[in-house]
Amino acid sequence: MSQSASGQVDHILTESRLFPPPQKFVDQAAINSEEQYQQLYDAAANDPDAFWDAEAKQHLHWFEPYQQVCKWDAPHAQWFVGGKTNASYNCLDAHIAAGHGDRKALIWEGEPGDTVTLTYAELHEQVCKTANALKALGIGLGDVVSIYMPMTPELPIAMLACARIGAIHSVIFAGFSAESIADRNNDAGAKLVITANGLYRRGKVLPLKKTVDEALEKSPTVKHCLVLQRIADQDTPMVEGRDIWWHESVASASNDCPATPLDSETPLFVLYTSGSTGKPKGILHTTAGYNLWAKRTFQWVFDHRDDDVYWCTADCGWITGHSYLVYGPLAAGATCLMYEGAPNHPAEDRFWDLVEKYKVTVMYTAPTAIRAFIKWGDQHVDAHDLSSLRLLGTVGEGINPEAWMWYHKKIGNEQCPIVDTWWQTETGGIMMSPLPGVTATKPGSCTKPLPGVVPAVIDEMGDEITGHNGGMLCIAQPWPGMLRGIWGDQQRYVEQYWSKVPGKYLTGDNARRDEDGYYWIMGRIDDVINVSGHRLSTIEVESALVSHPAVCEAAVVGRPHDLKGQGIAAFVTVRDQEPNEELRAELRQHVRKEIGALAQPDDIRFTSALPKTRSGKIMRRLLRDIAAGNEAAGDTSTLEDYSVLVKLREQDES
Ligand code: WT7
Repeated sequence: MSQSASGQVDHILTESRLFPPPQKFVDQAAINSEEQYQQLYDAAANDPDAFWDAEAKQHLHWFEPYQQVCKWDAPHAQWFVGGKTNASYNCLDAHIAAGHGDRKALIWEGEPGDTVTLTYAELHEQVCKTANALKALGIGLGDVVSIYMPMTPELPIAMLACARIGAIHSVIFAGFSAESIADRNNDAGAKLVITANGLYRRGKVLPLKKTVDEALEKSPTVKHCLVLQRIADQDTPMVEGRDIWWHESVASASNDCPATPLDSETPLFVLYTSGSTGKPKGILHTTAGYNLWAKRTFQWVFDHRDDDVYWCTADCGWITGHSYLVYGPLAAGATCLMYEGAPNHPAEDRFWDLVEKYKVTVMYTAPTAIRAFIKWGDQHVDAHDLSSLRLLGTVGEGINPEAWMWYHKKIGNEQCPIVDTWWQTETGGIMMSPLPGVTATKPGSCTKPLPGVVPAVIDEMGDEITGHNGGMLCIAQPWPGMLRGIWGDQQRYVEQYWSKVPGKYLTGDNARRDEDGYYWIMGRIDDVINVSGHRLSTIEVESALVSHPAVCEAAVVGRPHDLKGQGIAAFVTVRDQEPNEELRAELRQHVRKEIGALAQPDDIRFTSALPKTRSGKIMRRLLRDIAAGNEAAGDTSTLEDYSVLVKLREQDES
């Protein structure tokens, strides 16, 4: 291996296993040949306007036709300019009009085991009533509504009710603090907050309304608070004139509420994302392009069939919940399972219990969950019949090849393709993923771009890397689902995404393209470790560690090193043994054998848990501080469990 050229990221881990889709899957898949994929891809690349024109006409309902497919005034895009549509219409009315009102839209299960099933017609009715209740509170076109709710059916209902009348929703994950809610209310200028009087989590009740009350003391723009009674016998103080019960206002509202024809570029939602550092930014998505992207990528990637029971385990507080629990699957007329609670309540087999009970056919979850299942032990999986599953997906982080293998074998019984989907809050929907009936998968690779996605891997000099080393992953062409900006800060939008590599969208991730044209995400640009002039990717060293049978999770970061510039510090959780010196030596040796001496960690620290964001991503930034012997000082508001950080710090002092 030579010294890295132009700041390219060296690639050191070789994964050569290849899994072609099972013939049984190929036979029934809608897209099931390489030629079909290539045709679609080429059509979208060669004449994007013609491609997206045909897609939009076929897959969205238009109250009024658009005049132009894409107006690209870099870096500002408008799609389907001048047309009028409505995302709530596309997700509900369109199916009723097509005679599918009786089809199940949502199958919901609460953490305590209560259930609700809503057909498309029933969901439509609930959305209409809720939209009328919002109107009665003075909410209309362009007003921002914060939604801070448990994963109950009323959460997607609230989102679709906003969409129906052109209000802009801002869903705030129900684990965030009063401070975070107030920040988001103020940044967006929210007029209404929708919440619940509580939320079940691992059998306990979290008092959501109390947190909102605190936030509202610092949210001057908010005029009203609509409160769902999720917990029956919970004392819930209501502020006269400000707070309204959901069951009172929605129940009495009319069920007649035609969807408002909205301009294609009407803002649909803002969703705050922290990035990994700094002040949260409100990512803005608009109506037509986003809805089309969510729908089509859902259909392509999940090979959607009408008889599927599809389960996306993400919370609506994240983009995955927006695009693949609400706007994508509902626009496609899918039957979606939605679960309210924790994966380990009442026991560690809750997810598998749900798969068995509802005969889930397609499951979409995150690597962080898969690593937890591995840690909890196979007995929880073995106790259930998972034979209904035909397709598995992951999103959120890179998946270590060994975790991929576990998912493939234990959950998929080697019968289900795995779609490792790479995308971001900003991209609106999936950008790179296998097509399950076409693409032979490689564990740890998100494989190839979807139609309409033109990736480019760029080195530090700004040149495109044509070889197989890693560099900055950019997207070279606008696509319908792309973010339209950062709420209230268009300058930050231009600087953050469009300035470092002129004319291209900067994803902030590093990636490399292999000999077969497959993409491998190598982690965030800021996480690269420079050892003696070699730029290494975190995920490759982590995957080598995880391939040791004793290791469950691993996070590696750089730390200052006198000779090498940076050394490698690894934080490791182990499966079910007491870590000791011997294991430490063995792991260093293991990495050396798997990928070479250069990547051998200088320090290995055993820990019982890793610091993660509330959406499950490892916060390497905090680990970097700890590894360098500094107080982990930056913003910790997105940290899921603060005690993990405290423990790591204590360990550091001892
Ligand atoms: C970042 C985006 C996409 C919805 C949930 C996260 C990382 C996401 C993958 C994947 C490797 C992945 C990237 C990306 N990421 N999916 N399949 N393989 N890395 O959305 O919070 O906006 O995070 O998550 O680093 O940039 P997000």
